Amino acid sequence: MMDVKQQLEQVKQEATKAVAGVTTLVELADVKAKYLGRKGTLNGLMRLMKDIPDAEKPAFGKAVNDVKQFVSGKVEETRHAIEQAIIDAKLAKERIDVTLPGKQFTVGTRHIMTQIVEEIEDLLIGMGYQVMEGPEVETDENNFEKLNLPKDHPARDMQDTFYITEDTLLRTHTSPVQVRTMLANGGNKPIKIICPGKVYRRDDDDATHSHQFMQIEGLVVDETTSMADLKGTLLAIANQVFGEGRDIRLRPSFFPFTEPSVEVDVSCHNCNGSGCNICKGTGWIEILGAGMVHNNVLEASGYDSTKYRGFAFGIGVERLAMLKYGINDIRDFYTNDMRFNRQFRKR
Ligand code: PHE
Repeated sequence: MMDVKQQLEQVKQEATKAVAGVTTLVELADVKAKYLGRKGTLNGLMRLMKDIPDAEKPAFGKAVNDVKQFVSGKVEETRHAIEQAIIDAKLAKERIDVTLPGKQFTVGTRHIMTQIVEEIEDLLIGMGYQVMEGPEVETDENNFEKLNLPKDHPARDMQDTFYITEDTLLRTHTSPVQVRTMLANGGNKPIKIICPGKVYRRDDDDATHSHQFMQIEGLVVDETTSMADLKGTLLAIANQVFGEGRDIRLRPSFFPFTEPSVEVDVSCHNCNGSGCNICKGTGWIEILGAGMVHNNVLEASGYDSTKYRGFAFGIGVERLAMLKYGINDIRDFYTNDMRFNRQFRKR
C-alpha cells in the first residue's frame, strides 16, 4: 500500500512539474492528455485498485481523485496564464502610441489661376453675371471676322495666331464667346456674362510671354448699358483683386471690337499711387482692355445696334497675379514647381 501511495505522490509531483514546464497551449494539451487523459497515467493508477484491500479502496480512490483534481487545477491555472500571456503580447504588439507624431501627407493646393478666376467669378455672379464657356479650338469667323477683324485687317497682327486649318484656330482671346453668346440669344435678349478660359498666341515663351495664358471675358448687352456701368464694374473688380481703396482710370485705346476702347489702369496697391518699382514710378498699373461693344460686332451677331448697346472687357489673369504677388516670370504658372504652387495655399 505504501508503494501505491508513493507512486501516486510521485505522479503528482511529476505532473505538477510537467505542467509548470509548458509554454504553449499545445504542449499543455499534451501534458494534460498524458496525466489526465482516458489512457493517462492517473487512470492507469486507478487500475491498481484491484490489488488493494477492500477496506482501503475508498481511501485510495479518493486519493487518486484528489491528485486528478489537483493536477487539473494546475492545468487550468496554466491555461489561464498562457492565454493571458497571448493577449498581453497581442496588446503590446498592437498598442497605439497616441503621442507619436502623425504621418505627414500632402494636401493639394488649388492653383493660383483657379483661385483668382473663382474670386472674380464670385464677385460677378453676385452682380448678376452668368459664367459661360467656349471652345479653345475656334473658327476664324468667331475669333476674328465677327469681331470686326476681317481678313488682312492689320490689327490681326496684334494677336499672332496658331492656325489649325485655314479657318480653324486656337482662340487668341476669349472674345469669341461674346459672339457665341450673342448668336445663341437670337438678337433680342439682354446678356450679362463672363467667360474665363485659356487662350493661345504664337509667342516665344520668356519671362513675360507665354504661348498660352488665361483671360476672363466680360460682356453686358442691353438697351441702356453705358460706359459708366463699365467703369463701376471694373472698379469693383479692381477692389476685389487688389484690395479695398483702389482707384481706376480709363485711357483711350484701340480694339477693333470696341468703340470707344479703353485701357484700364488701377492705382498701385503696393505704393498706393506714390510710385514704386511695381508701377514703374507712375502710381498706376495697366490691368485690362475694355470698351463699348462696336456696332459692327452687335450687328454681326444679330443685335440691332440702334436698340442695343453693350460693354465688354478682357482681363489677363496671369498679369493680375504677377502684379498682385510680385511674380516676375509668367512661366511659373505652368511649370508646376510645387514650391511655387504651395505658396498660394489658403489657410
Ligand atoms: N480681346 C482683347 C484681347 O485679348 C481684350 C478685350 C476684350 C478688349 C474685350 C476689349 C474688350 O486683347
